[in-house]
Amino acid sequence: MQVTEVLNRTIGFFKKKGFESARLESELLISSALGWQRIDLYSKFEYPLSADQMNACRELVKRRTDGEPIAYILGEKGFYQDDFKVGPGVLIPRPETETIVDEVEKLKSELEGEILIFDFGCGSGCLGLSLLRVLPGARLAGFDISETCVSYSKENAEALGLESSSGFFKNDVASVDLNDLALEAPDLIVANPPYISKDDPEVAEDVKSFEPSEALFSEDDGLAHIKHWASKASELLKPGGYYFFEIGHRQGQVCKDLLEQDLGFSHIEVIKDLSGKDRVIKAQKELR
Ligand SMILES: C[S@@+](CC[C@H](N)C(=O)[O-])C[C@H]1O[C@@H](n2cnc3c(N)ncnc32)[C@H](O)[C@@H]1O
Repeated sequence: MQVTEVLNRTIGFFKKKGFESARLESELLISSALGWQRIDLYSKFEYPLSADQMNACRELVKRRTDGEPIAYILGEKGFYQDDFKVGPGVLIPRPETETIVDEVEKLKSELEGEILIFDFGCGSGCLGLSLLRVLPGARLAGFDISETCVSYSKENAEALGLESSSGFFKNDVASVDLNDLALEAPDLIVANPPYISKDDPEVAEDVKSFEPSEALFSEDDGLAHIKHWASKASELLKPGGYYFFEIGHRQGQVCKDLLEQDLGFSHIEVIKDLSGKDRVIKAQKELR
């Protein structure tokens, strides 16, 4: 069968299954199965596929129709300016998390030089490593409870040529200790904590089935990690340092109220994402 026929059949199949981006997903999967660039599908459209190539295409199409996220099948996901390697056990970077990078960029003139950034719950490393792109000269320490996430973060740092300015540690955020790590107090802490309530009916089935639950869910109506990590950020930050963290779109007011309690933060703001939903809290550690 020629490649164009395989592609058209896949598009038709995905459309029938109700996929919104049937053409794009088909192109990405078929080119990945063949080890080609997407553009090759159109320059080599008459190319006859071997039995092995047909099987490779079928295998990826089946994984996708079984619900596996396309980022895991392709092994990467774009975030901010780069592609990040991802796989089972690591949260797939989400575009709304880029809001934090955009907000930090606005403070660029204040956060110049060899500043130290902490990334709580670094996952693939997408957030912290993207910040090294916008704050050249900065150093990054990322922490995650999952060994898999720490290895993905290190691999991504290497692939992006950022390994000399970053370090990643398998560490519960609660036990991050500056003396043990021989690090000074950070100027900036960013986090995308697990913040979904365990009984939230809005979570898509494929997210629940394939993405790591320790990256998604938190006790106390989704607020447990938010509360613990805010106290830890306040304990670690330099006076005047900033803490940015992602929240669920209904958690803006409750998180603002929480940080306004006696946690040592000032200038607390709720920031919206590009779709106009509450998405990020920005807070500054009080100057004492
Ligand atoms: C929502 S994901 C964010 C991943 C990545 N920062 C991103 O934005 O794509 C939350 C991350 O926190 C990690 N995590 C959960 N509990 C943790 C804890 N107590 N200490 C450190 N990391 C934790 C999870 O393994 C997961 O990688």
